[in-house]
Amino acid sequence: MTNSSRRLDLARDLAREAGALAREMRQTQGSGFVAVKGPQDFVTAADQAVETLLRERLLAAFPEDGFLGEEGGRQGKGDFTWVVDPIDGTTNYLRGLPEWGISIGCLYKEDLHLGVIHLPDLGRTAHAQRGEGAFLDTERLDLRKRPATDSRLGILGHSDRVSLKSHLDSIEGLLGGGFDYRRQGSACFGLLAVAAGWADFYFEAHLNPWDAIAGLVLILEAGGTVNHGAMQAFLEAGSPVLAAHPGLENATRDLLEGIASRVR
Ligand code: IPD
Ligand code: CA
Ligand code: CA
Repeated sequence: MTNSSRRLDLARDLAREAGALAREMRQTQGSGFVAVKGPQDFVTAADQAVETLLRERLLAAFPEDGFLGEEGGRQGKGDFTWVVDPIDGTTNYLRGLPEWGISIGCLYKEDLHLGVIHLPDLGRTAHAQRGEGAFLDTERLDLRKRPATDSRLGILGHSDRVSLKSHLDSIEGLLGGGFDYRRQGSACFGLLAVAAGWADFYFEAHLNPWDAIAGLVLILEAGGTVNHGAMQAFLEAGSPVLAAHPGLENATRDLLEGIASRVR
């Protein structure tokens, strides 16, 4: 087995183990389980425990790799860098809404390399590695074989890292342009939804790398398109992210790119 497929296999196994740990911790939570990071921004003991599990096990298997996690930041440096959101959609996780996931991405130098998204409450796992295709459970994801529908449905994310005015402008642009949108509250769920063809695009004016890297690999390998800032800047400060079905008409693409370019 090559080191690359070992990385993918380990990431898939760990994502499932991490999901089981998060579900068990939610069931048995004791005092101090939840802390408030900011308005509508929570962190739980499970976010920390899952990140520790993933960091320790990934770096034990691949000590030459670097790691970047939402909760603990950077550790080590290498040609491969793991980029991990231990629980993406923490509010949903806490409340029992099923759209949350474990998101494990990996870069080779500055290139997107592999991505695993596991949705524990929904029992679904998606994985992809550049050049090897994208899969949801055992189904190959190929958007080129799945024409864009005319339902014009996208997913829009929002956080208070971006002005409310900018978010409202995006909504107005989309609804005025004949789109409808959903906002589930988990970027990894939304990106997986594009890779699976459940939605035509995902747009968020600011995502951190741990929210997006795994999902971007899935979308590219499923044949979709992704727009984001240069990787170094993305790793340091985040970036707007637009990910879309490859069959969107040019006019639709222009509308979405226009919305993305007006973000403040
Ligand atoms: C958040 C979710 C949300 C997105 C935010 C993210 P978290 O991640 O993905 O959907 O809109 O930008 O910060 O805090 O639940 O890991
Ligand atoms: Ca996140
Ligand atoms: Ca998180």
